Amino acid sequence: MKQKYKTVKVGRNDPCPCGSGLKYKKCCLGKEGLEPDNLKKLYAREYKIRLKDEADIEGIRRAGRLVVDTLRLLEAEIRPGIATDDINTLVHEFTIKNRAIPAPLNYRGFPKSVCVSVNEVVCHGIPGERVLKDGDIVNVDVTSILNGYYADANKTFFAGAPGPDARKIVRVARESLKVGMSMVRPGNTVGDIGWAIQRYAEGEGCSVVREFVGHGVGFEFHESPHVPHYGAKGEGIGLVPGMVFTIEPMINLGKRDLYILEDRWTAVTRDRSLSAQFEQTVLVTKDGFESLTPFDL
Ligand code: MF3
Ligand code: CO
Ligand code: CO
Repeated sequence: MKQKYKTVKVGRNDPCPCGSGLKYKKCCLGKEGLEPDNLKKLYAREYKIRLKDEADIEGIRRAGRLVVDTLRLLEAEIRPGIATDDINTLVHEFTIKNRAIPAPLNYRGFPKSVCVSVNEVVCHGIPGERVLKDGDIVNVDVTSILNGYYADANKTFFAGAPGPDARKIVRVARESLKVGMSMVRPGNTVGDIGWAIQRYAEGEGCSVVREFVGHGVGFEFHESPHVPHYGAKGEGIGLVPGMVFTIEPMINLGKRDLYILEDRWTAVTRDRSLSAQFEQTVLVTKDGFESLTPFDL
């Protein structure tokens, strides 16, 4: 069935009717992005992106508050001597207690409620017997489903006192997320985010993982679009209000190459160098962005 879209005459240099404050040509021109309803249909049809309305956003924001509270709870618990499975227990119990569901559990066969990735583990570490040592870095990636809405965020913590390499990679990963988020506004593209992250992280002598990317989120764990943490300025889908996606750069101290362990989940740097990551779920607003999983970077 073919859909008809209403069109309105707007000059190329006029302010964009979507309310972004940008010129029409820099924003929704060619995207029929004239009213929320048309934009929603257009993004669904062209990109399989499900734009969120106010009620959806409030739902994701609530799930996001729980995710951030979970990460905050871990702050006090992570220290040398605890096993990664202890982190799983803490996250699982706190999530359930708050009437939410840990999204990783049984997701495509993932066996635990949270991803815990230590040192050379890039992401998707499965909690188990590994005990944290003094100076380790440990990423905990929490995704909760609350009233049907998903929010996804992660942080890399220090166990005990970090050495200079640990401090550096965690600083660059944290800053990479910040730099990526600063690009989020209507009129910019998905490619602008990756471009800014890659330029910054490589400028610090680190490398950017390519096999895993940020993603749309909210109604499901992983939605369209992909949000790469590398790429070219101006490339890819235009950002419009109501888009919700994660930015989650994985940054390595050595080379970007990785491999997957026999468990089919754990991603490890090929050169065994340290890898760190920070993630937030962000909403594109009419003049910028709002983090739906806000914590200080
Ligand atoms: N939370 C991860 C992400 O940021 C995905 C983990 S999938 C799992 O996209 F199955 F390992 F949990
Ligand atoms: Co994610
Ligand atoms: Co995540």
